[in-house]
Amino acid sequence: MKRLPTDADWMAAAIALSRRGRPASAPNPNVGCLIVKDGKVVGRGWTQAGGRPHAEAAALVAAGGAACGATAYVTLEPCAHASSRGPACSDLLIAAGVARVVIAAQDPDPRTDGRGIAKLQAAGIEVLFDVLPAEARAAMAPWWTRQGEGRPFVTLKLATSLDGCIARADGTSRWITGERARAHGHLERARHQAILVGRGTLDADAPQLDVRLPGLEDRSPQKLLLTRGTAPNGWTAVASPDAVDDVDSLLVEGGAGAAAAFLAADRVDRLLLYRAPILIGDGKSALGDIGLADLADAHGRWRLDDSRMLGSDRLDVYERIRII
Ligand SMILES: NC(=O)c1ccc[n+]([C@@H]2O[C@H](COP(=O)([O-])OP(=O)(O)OC[C@H]3O[C@@H](n4cnc5c(N)ncnc54)[C@H](OP(=O)(O)O)[C@@H]3O)[C@@H](O)[C@H]2O)c1
Repeated sequence: MKRLPTDADWMAAAIALSRRGRPASAPNPNVGCLIVKDGKVVGRGWTQAGGRPHAEAAALVAAGGAACGATAYVTLEPCAHASSRGPACSDLLIAAGVARVVIAAQDPDPRTDGRGIAKLQAAGIEVLFDVLPAEARAAMAPWWTRQGEGRPFVTLKLATSLDGCIARADGTSRWITGERARAHGHLERARHQAILVGRGTLDADAPQLDVRLPGLEDRSPQKLLLTRGTAPNGWTAVASPDAVDDVDSLLVEGGAGAAAAFLAADRVDRLLLYRAPILIGDGKSALGDIGLADLADAHGRWRLDDSRMLGSDRLDVYERIRII
């Protein structure tokens, strides 16, 4: 017999939708919303570029009259406050006559923080919360990191040989990985607001750092250069890892000095390790000094989150383990 989708199944679909808003929704959270009636999706929405319309507003427009009596799955508590840019989503859900709202995570923004849930309940709507909260927060990691820690969520990307080199001794690094891995790297660029390399990489490779994937060319992130000096036209100079403070998501693409600087400052949340089946030997190692005082300190810091083949290269994705 066919199994009916559970609340967690629908929420997982809403979380997948929420990822579409990343990074264009910044500085607003990338929320996903699914409206389901009689076992069928009648509306889908995610936070649009610049943060408006919100996911619920977009999904309610798509659902029209079908929203009445339906269940709304929302990855973040619907906002309780109206602003000059739009109405409160909790009011929109009430006005649309939804019967039930399922929420993944409560909104830490003090303007909402439980008040969206209270409003819905006061209007007689059944509210279920804490459905896949960790998964929803992970999908909103850049916004969540900014809210909680006032800094961007940082991904470090490294393309290495099997013996851990990022370049030959003469500095040449094109190409270590194959086409599929490089295309995946471009997709990662499209998911970030800004991308950073160190001065040594600019001098060695003159990288364009744009997104060269069909249909995503307009998603090229802002270009930052880690240097104690100045940056050429089209680049913004960043004097230290702590100085990146005006974006929610940052992709660091090396080289060894820049990567080490971000790791030493404990600014890396996610590590993308593209490993090609080649040996370089006497090459440039992936990292400079990361300030490790004791080998014991190196353990317990990284958890493997994903591992897959991209052509003949392997991608391992690690997450920084942080005890909050
Ligand atoms: N395979 C890969 O994934 C990959 C990716 C990128 C690059 N690469 C290769 O890596 C090599 C370049 O690496 P690299 O280590 O020589 O250079 P790098 O990391 O690109 O740049 C080093 C420079 O970054 C700046 N910097 C470093 N730490 C800093 C800090 N804490 N605060 C401020 N500025 C800081 C300094 O610039 P200033 O001297 O201007 O202050 C430093 O000279 C090239 O051969 C390139 O092809 C490989």
